This record gives sequence, C-alpha cells and structure tokens, in this order.
Amino acid sequence: MNKSTALSAWTTTLRLLCLFAFSAAALAEENTLKLQEAPGKDLIETHCRTCHSLDYIEMNAGILDAAGWKKSVNKMIDVMGAPILPGEVPGIVTYLHQSYGKARE
Ligand code: HEC
Repeated sequence: MNKSTALSAWTTTLRLLCLFAFSAAALAEENTLKLQEAPGKDLIETHCRTCHSLDYIEMNAGILDAAGWKKSVNKMIDVMGAPILPGEVPGIVTYLHQSYGKARE
C-alpha cells in the first residue's frame, strides 16, 4: 500500500465514522422525544404515533385550547381514520389540553 492509498483508506474510514455518528445522533434524538408525564399519556403513546411522529403534538403545543385539541383529535378519527374509541377521546383531549394546551392567562 503506497502512501496515497493509505491516506485515502483513512479518509474513507473517517467519513464512515462521521456518517455513523450523525445517524446515531439522529436516532437518539428521535427516541428522546418524550411526552410529558400525566394521566392519559399511554393513550397518546398508543394512538398518536401510528401515522406520524409525536412532533405533531409538540408543534401545536401552546396553540390549541381544549376545544381545539378536541377538534384535532376528532379530525384524526373522522378524516384520517384513526382507530380511537369514542370513550377514549375525553382522556386524550384532557391530556393534550393539560400538557400541551394553550397557556392559561
Ligand atoms: C390514522 C392516522 C393518524 C392517526 C392515528 C393520528 N393522526 Fe394526526 N395526522 C394524520 C395525518 C395524515 C396528518 C397530516 C394531515 C395534514 O397534513 O393535513 C396528521 C396531522 C396531525 C396534526 C397537525 C395538525 C393537523 O390537524 O393537520 C396534529 C396536531 C395531529 N395530527 C395530532 C394527532 C393526535 C393527537 C393523534 C392521537 C389522538 C393523532 N394525530 C393520530 C394522521 C393520523
């Protein structure tokens, strides 16, 4: 192996290492998105990430009030076809409102 081949092999190794570090970081980030602890969290974990990530909830944090969250959850059911039982809706809405609802003045 001459000097330049050795160098290019080393560069490739470095590149691969960087790539690996980046994807590991990205994966770790995905897994650390934690919902706030509160009753009803399990319902959200079960129902709200089958179609999209829980980022959607964080994106709307502080914007929607209880009625807004209720509308949003009903939209997931009626429009998107989320398999959520009617009896589960109040628990989900309460959780979303309490943990991610519009800040109370
Ligand atoms: C059956 C699939 C499905 C399930 C289950 C689901 N969603 Fe969605 N959700 C979607 C789709 C598709 C979009 C994107 C719609 C769009 O871009 O208009 C979306 C978008 C959203 C948005 C962004 C705002 C909006 O209305 O477009 C929020 C907030 C949201 N979902 C919350 C939830 C919550 C909370 C749950 C659990 C109660 C849930 N979703 C479960 C399919 C689903």
